[in-house]
Amino acid sequence: MLSSENPTPGNDDQVSGHGMWSSRMAFILAATGSAVGLGNIWRFPYVTAENGGGAFVLIYLVCIAAIGIPLLMSEILVGRAGRHSPINSLKQLAQRSQRTWRWMFVGVLGALIGWMILSFYSMVAGWTLAYGWHYLGEIFSSTTVALDPDGKFDDLLASPGALIFWLTLFVTLSVGIVALGVEKGLERAVRILMPMLFVLLLLMVGYGMASGFFQQTLSYLFTPDFSKVDGNTILQAMGQAFFSLSLGMTGIMAYGAYVPRDVNIGKTAGIIALADTGVALLAGMAIFPIVFAHGLSTGEGPGLIFVTLPYAFADIEFGNILGFSFFLLLAVAAWTSAISLMEPAVAYLSESKRFSRLSAAVTVGVATWVLALGSVFSMNIWSGYTIGGKNFQELIEYIASNLLLPLGGLATGLFVGWVLSRVIVREQLSELSDGQYQLWRFLVRYVGPVLVFVVFLSAAGVI
Ligand code: PFF
Repeated sequence: MLSSENPTPGNDDQVSGHGMWSSRMAFILAATGSAVGLGNIWRFPYVTAENGGGAFVLIYLVCIAAIGIPLLMSEILVGRAGRHSPINSLKQLAQRSQRTWRWMFVGVLGALIGWMILSFYSMVAGWTLAYGWHYLGEIFSSTTVALDPDGKFDDLLASPGALIFWLTLFVTLSVGIVALGVEKGLERAVRILMPMLFVLLLLMVGYGMASGFFQQTLSYLFTPDFSKVDGNTILQAMGQAFFSLSLGMTGIMAYGAYVPRDVNIGKTAGIIALADTGVALLAGMAIFPIVFAHGLSTGEGPGLIFVTLPYAFADIEFGNILGFSFFLLLAVAAWTSAISLMEPAVAYLSESKRFSRLSAAVTVGVATWVLALGSVFSMNIWSGYTIGGKNFQELIEYIASNLLLPLGGLATGLFVGWVLSRVIVREQLSELSDGQYQLWRFLVRYVGPVLVFVVFLSAAGVI
């Protein structure tokens, strides 16, 4: 089964025409690679800090369990039952359930969200490549360069040429992996990259433990301060759970199509969620000791990494190596997320006769690159152009992440809970006991949609 050929759909439900993951482990690595990204490494620690630390973490964990894992299972099962791109799987499964084919538009929405997210995501990933390159240069340079992180970050953002160079490199890397297909590209990449990421992160946590500020970090992250919890905290925790698990844009659904029949979906979803949450917590434990040791601010958002940490790396012995490792880790995390953001659109295009997998990947890559130029220019020459106080990049990010992602997740939950034939669903979740199945069904039918609806209204500013 060659992924670069046009898949012949629908001959049986054991295999996908795009290729298959070779094992359960390969799928776990790929889905974890999708989930773990820039969101975990900088966003989780920062949002946690802003929301009462331990209390936020607790609510986040509840959201992962109550909405995240059931929806993760839903996306995987739709993919595996359909065995096609999300768009065609949704269409065929709706028809097999005697419902309208129009459910495929949930897949269209997902592919569009992936494209939008990938545009600004690729730009930020380009920053991490630029920083990685910088530290690599420092490792081999004999002269000591004067430290100016603010200036360096500003210089990078002010230079469309540099931003476009790193963006192009990142998009090319992502297209290359996706073009190689499931077996040769995605799986081989995540097999090497994911373990590397874990090792790097553990190394940095080890450094944090030796810094003398680990205790402070632990209490900062894990001591619940419920006085800081309000409705907004809960919504933020839910939003973070959603974004972090890559839910709502059918990326996991696309990966689900390549999952072998004998994989236990419930167990696998639990492992993916655990790994994603674990990486976020480890990232916090790696980053905050450095922040505290140097008396730096925790409330910087993107600046926390690109502006503040270089001060710390400059102070630390072998800081160049640590800095290089850190930004390499971030680039790797972003890369394995980016390929999942591309996969729904690439899989759909390559199911049509007109596209090979390679031309589909290049088409999506070029479209991403063009949209990403808007984000690049909004950092410099277009920075003056805003709508509602948001520049182009902020607008795209707001619409895709805050509005469309919850909408996509809500629609997916409704499809699986209310539309998809119960026979198909139960067959996919055959390992679940009746009790477990009923619990899952209740969470997907009622709890998830209601809670996600609330998140959506809040993101849209209605409540
Ligand atoms: N889950 C990744 C992160 O936390 O950075 C990135 C991501 C992928 C976000 C897919 C959203 C998405 F739909």
